[in-house]
Amino acid sequence: MGIKLNKIENVFALQSKNNTYAFGVDDMGLIRHLYWGSKIEDVEEFEMPKLFEVSTNDPVFEITKEEFPVYGSLRYKEHCLKATFNDVCREVVYKYVGYEVKDNELIIKLEDKHYDFNIDLHYILHEEYDLIERFVTVKNNTNDVIKIEKIHSGQFHIPHEDLIFSNVHGHWGAEQQKFNQKVSYGKIVIENRRGISTHNHNPYFILSTNATETTGEVYFGALRLSGNFSGVIEQTQYGGTLAQLGINSHDFLLNLKPNEEFTTPSIIAGYSNSGFETMSNNLHNFAKDNILRKGLRPVLYNSWEATEFKVNCNEQIKLAEKAKEIGAELFVVDDGWFGQRDSINNGLGDWYVNSEKFPEGLNPLIDKVKSMDMLFGIWIEPEMVNPASQLYKDHPDWIYHFDTRESDTSRGQYVLDVTKKEVKDFIYNMIDDLLTNYDIDYIKWDANRPISQTNVEKDLWYKHIMTIYDIVKTLKVKHPNVLFEACASGGGRIDYGILGIFDDFWTSDNTDAYDRLFIQESYSYIYPIKAMRAWVTDCPNFLSQRIIPMKFRYHSAMMGTLGIGCNILKFNDDDVQLSKELISEYKDIRHIVQEGDFYRLENKSKNRYNTYQYIKDDEGLVFVFLPQSEIGHRGVNIKLRHLEKNSKYLLKIKDQEISKTGEYFMNCGIDVRLSGDYDSMIIKFNKIK
Ligand code: GLA
Repeated sequence: MGIKLNKIENVFALQSKNNTYAFGVDDMGLIRHLYWGSKIEDVEEFEMPKLFEVSTNDPVFEITKEEFPVYGSLRYKEHCLKATFNDVCREVVYKYVGYEVKDNELIIKLEDKHYDFNIDLHYILHEEYDLIERFVTVKNNTNDVIKIEKIHSGQFHIPHEDLIFSNVHGHWGAEQQKFNQKVSYGKIVIENRRGISTHNHNPYFILSTNATETTGEVYFGALRLSGNFSGVIEQTQYGGTLAQLGINSHDFLLNLKPNEEFTTPSIIAGYSNSGFETMSNNLHNFAKDNILRKGLRPVLYNSWEATEFKVNCNEQIKLAEKAKEIGAELFVVDDGWFGQRDSINNGLGDWYVNSEKFPEGLNPLIDKVKSMDMLFGIWIEPEMVNPASQLYKDHPDWIYHFDTRESDTSRGQYVLDVTKKEVKDFIYNMIDDLLTNYDIDYIKWDANRPISQTNVEKDLWYKHIMTIYDIVKTLKVKHPNVLFEACASGGGRIDYGILGIFDDFWTSDNTDAYDRLFIQESYSYIYPIKAMRAWVTDCPNFLSQRIIPMKFRYHSAMMGTLGIGCNILKFNDDDVQLSKELISEYKDIRHIVQEGDFYRLENKSKNRYNTYQYIKDDEGLVFVFLPQSEIGHRGVNIKLRHLEKNSKYLLKIKDQEISKTGEYFMNCGIDVRLSGDYDSMIIKFNKIK
């Protein structure tokens, strides 16, 4: 394992547990991709094939599988870098100048042949997770500005044609809808131009060859960036497929000043020859071990669906008492507690406690919550301002705008230009004051509209999100115990850029337990369960109008980090009793849900069952859902995954206990029958010897 070089030091192999990623430097000094797939131990086996142009119209530059193609020379293909120098030369011509290995990181050093401009290609090897992380640093050592018009974080080459590309599509309330698309000639482009929202596509690629959960080859990469990203997938004219990810070059221009350096967001990438399950597990484990904060996530209660903007101290106290009674550990006051916030049209920007709703401030509520030994959380939307607010009256120039145009509102609000120092300071100080003056454990940070009418430099789209990352990172230094939830009108900010800086994702405003099964399943391909907030809410659901039994709603939400968003003051005794039981059950199993390995179990029942497995050390769970019983009303055979073949397991289905070997449960499986619509169950098992 590790970073390996061949004897003449022109081939580099990143050897992880099961895989190899190899590339090298050819005699023209081009950094050429050689291999990505199952392990090839001996780096000496790799050779740098000599390239011959196919014809004068198909030059060598076009054919070469470059790790980081730049714009210039006889290249017409997708490039990762386009730069314009001061004298208007618009091509980069690089030469290889050496490499550096630092622990698990390999840096390939390139230099422009004429201009004093460096490009470093970084590869970090995460051996145990079969993942590599790639990013690029460019440095301007000239005395003039270099204009960077495009900079993607890297290019990958997949040695197949006719692949299946998977990503998600969607919109508000319908995020994370997985789609599979055949790759053929031409390009597939996914992107976000909104600055904030990624309800539509998500910054990753999955490219597979006839893969299932457990078989087939899968190549994947996820970009660590929120906001404007772009991804390109192209089946090339010369065999194979390429994939790129990075900052969207739409309305982007980076003026790299003398002595300035710029580092792109990284791509976490990997290969699996055993289907999607391995991909998800490697990413999940990497995130759990290296990105996410340790510790189990509390069961939260959130007031939004119960009270919307009509919050008041007494009612919130009553909700908190009830939340405590059913077993919640964290009480979050959502929108409506500040400024003149009675609707979407006012309040944002005026972050003082509304004295009509909270005559004695927030402390009576916080004290009550704390006296019941619960954590306290609060909603904010710091990047935004309503035109009617005092903040906007005082600082009309703090929003993104063109001087000669009127800026558009969306959800009744403008976006603050957080790249202005005074605005960044205002936001930081506002949150720091909140966290200093009140005993707050949890921040739900929302962002309910895309950015528009950006007035300043064109790298602002990128700078905006970097500023937000920076504010939260700085706040966490001073307030290390506070958890941050990333929300953008639901799941608009789910990506590996924000993960780790924020601790929880609000997965979607769509809280319909049936819809959620699909949203959550799509989410799980790339993102860890531990960051997936899921609430139980009232029926009929505000969005779907569906009425779903409470047990199914709980089970659906118990698949992630459980929250309750019902108007619990309206609960009858049965609702309270069931909530108590299921929240208590969740607390018993949450270490398996949040920290275990997750498997999407395939089943062949004619009745459509959703079946999922979690396993942590010697304990496991199987969630079984039957959304709708279909004609024939069949049961389902469920084959468990990743048990130890020769160990004995005890499995509990309702009151029945079955003890068999891992081999039996994996090969023969268990037969389960649910009945009626919206039936569900959680099966528990553990290794006994
Ligand atoms: C967004 C969020 C919701 C809620 C409202 C409050 O829509 O996604 O969960 O916080 O804002 O205005």
